[in-house]
Amino acid sequence: MGTVYEKTATSPVNIAVIKYWGKRDTNLILPTNSSLSVTLSQDHLHSKTTIRASPDFEKTRLWLNGVEDTDIEKNKRLQNCFRETRRLRKEYEEKLCKDKGADNVIPLSEYNLHICSENNFPTAAGLASSASGFACLAYTLSQLYELPISTTELSKIARQGSGSACRSLFGGFVAWEMGSKDDGSDSQAVQVAPQDHWPELEALICVVSDAKKGTSSTEGMQNTVNTSTLLQHRIEHIVPLRMKSMIKAIHERDYQKFAEITMQDSNQFHAVCLDTSPPIFYLNDVSRAIIRMITEYNSSNPERKLKAAYTFDAGPNAVIYTTSENIPGIINLIAKYFPSNENTSEYFSDPFQLFVGKTIGEQPLPLGFNDQIIPVFPKGSVKQILHTKVGEGPKVVAGEYDGLLNKQGC
Ligand code: DP6
Repeated sequence: MGTVYEKTATSPVNIAVIKYWGKRDTNLILPTNSSLSVTLSQDHLHSKTTIRASPDFEKTRLWLNGVEDTDIEKNKRLQNCFRETRRLRKEYEEKLCKDKGADNVIPLSEYNLHICSENNFPTAAGLASSASGFACLAYTLSQLYELPISTTELSKIARQGSGSACRSLFGGFVAWEMGSKDDGSDSQAVQVAPQDHWPELEALICVVSDAKKGTSSTEGMQNTVNTSTLLQHRIEHIVPLRMKSMIKAIHERDYQKFAEITMQDSNQFHAVCLDTSPPIFYLNDVSRAIIRMITEYNSSNPERKLKAAYTFDAGPNAVIYTTSENIPGIINLIAKYFPSNENTSEYFSDPFQLFVGKTIGEQPLPLGFNDQIIPVFPKGSVKQILHTKVGEGPKVVAGEYDGLLNKQGC
């Protein structure tokens, strides 16, 4: 075997505080509104992808979480990412040929690829795996091909894999500018603030049990575009102003404004789902009880300040953005009302060692909190609580061999 052309990289999950919901072009994945998200730490949630290019590979192959996807030719979104990165690599090779001579250029754009991708979190948890997965694919390809392009340029390629993936190319706080051009050349992600901009901001994810398979976001959002009049109001009159206010709140680290908009936007996203025909329900009884619990937590504290903000995507899981000092109190509340199903370390691993020597769910409730606001739910209604922080963008895994492909390339 000759030289191995291979790169491995990891990419983060992002959770939107202003939601993307609706496409104006389903092929190029162009949205009907701009959106904004927070990138979560890769220590707890990430996708990892290894890509090898070789003249010996007979065809391009992909393994996802250990299982080969044998239908990649038909997967338009994957093919879009391959085509766009190959085209840029080809252009780069032509330039290199001119500058250095053809002998010094490896024609990677002509080689087939073996790709292996894994998430360090269960796909079944319903967390945004397509965002981190496609961001990782686009990023790893750009590194393998040594593409001389900016992250924002690259975001337009990841976008064609899955809309929200474009936002996972940056760390910190990220806006996806919807753009207005038909070719999508101005529909791109930009960083609003870096990862270390607001160190106190943290996230809790409540993984909520869900028996039924819900409507996929791709399908659901197009039904909303076709049938909801409320979506038109949202697109024209709400999101443009909300984007401006949210960017300002982030720049000023104004938690009150950040929390207010985050909850309003999650509520409106689920309202447009309900306004869809037939209606789409992503929240379940547990999700709604979490909303009531957070609302009581925010209204009963003596300062009458917003201390926690919930947001929900296309499923029942809650993501709560709060600041460090409130984390133990909120974890305690969740554990009291949504107790664990026996195995406590799986339920909450306490990654930052906040409860050493203490039992979660058994600490006193905050002063003034009405403990009758929701019932105690059956054990296991919340399967897991993840505690994480704002994190960085994709990165190459360097050093000792840490790739996912074996010597034979599979
Ligand atoms: C509710 O990015 O999964 O999470 O572009 O069709 O792949 P496609 O959809 P996807 O939609 C995510 C929708 C959301 C809100 C958001 O992340 O902004």
